[in-house]
Amino acid sequence: MLACRVLAKGSGTAHRLVVNAAAKVNLALEVLSRRADGYHEIATVMQAVDLSDRLTLEDAPTIEVRTSAADVPTDERNLAYRAAAALRDAAKVERGVRITLDKRIPVAAGLGGGSTDAAAVLAGLNRLWRLHWPSARLEDLAVGLGMDVPFFLRGGAALGTGRGEQLTPIRSAVLALVLVNPRFPVSTAETYGRVTPAMFSDGRRARTVAGALASRGAGRVAACLYNGLEIAAREAYPQIAQMEAALIAAGALGAMMSGSGPTVFGVARSWEQARQIRARVARGRWECWAVRTLRGPAIRIRAEGSRGTL
Ligand code: C5P
Repeated sequence: MLACRVLAKGSGTAHRLVVNAAAKVNLALEVLSRRADGYHEIATVMQAVDLSDRLTLEDAPTIEVRTSAADVPTDERNLAYRAAAALRDAAKVERGVRITLDKRIPVAAGLGGGSTDAAAVLAGLNRLWRLHWPSARLEDLAVGLGMDVPFFLRGGAALGTGRGEQLTPIRSAVLALVLVNPRFPVSTAETYGRVTPAMFSDGRRARTVAGALASRGAGRVAACLYNGLEIAAREAYPQIAQMEAALIAAGALGAMMSGSGPTVFGVARSWEQARQIRARVARGRWECWAVRTLRGPAIRIRAEGSRGTL
């Protein structure tokens, strides 16, 4: 059975949980082919980073999502809502939950914000509803919500194959990155829809990045970043190339788009340098964060009132 990487602290009888849900970047993303089911076969290196949403889960008669974020729906279109409904139906529980979503990860940004919220709801409700589902069973349900969702139940770094949902963990060192988002959303389906066979590759680049990550050098990782979706996205959004050029001009060792975009990230030599790069690039019209990569869980659960740190 898979080891459960979700970090849980506090009592087992809580009626209210606070859950931290971390974002990811794709240090590599190769599109290998188009599948008959409309998806693409990919090889990707996903890495959790410490930019997180915060969700509060409370016992309630029905499923309800609350958020102050203007661009986030609170009905079935919200992946956190769908995660709660999917688990309720699969576990045959007659309970609801009030999900209060404090969004910090930009929406439709290539950082997996919706997927990590969904993973947080699955892991949190497994605890709140005392289901005791093993992580492999949660992962099976997670795939039905989105191909990135199983990754967030594990965290750290992983090589994703198939549609991105078949995961092999990668042991990695902590890297300092700078994320830059142009303040507009891009749909994942739209970016994949722009892919042509000329953009396909064979998966070797993703394996090279996985090897570089395991060998622990920021310079090595920076030298082999790759995203096969970037060509598709760059044509539609020239800002992607501009943000990458700004990161390199500010001293980043390498820069690349994350996932289906439009967020780009730069690899820094150190945390101090990441903060300097962030300060320089943030002078533009973009939103920027200096972040560290996470070696441990992406989802961290705390029972309200417990002393555990998030
Ligand atoms: O899995 P998820 O719901 O995040 O995927 C959103 C859309 O991205 C899919 O409907 C599909 O159009 C596209 N996609 C793809 N190949 C993948 C993953 C996603 O074509 N491996």
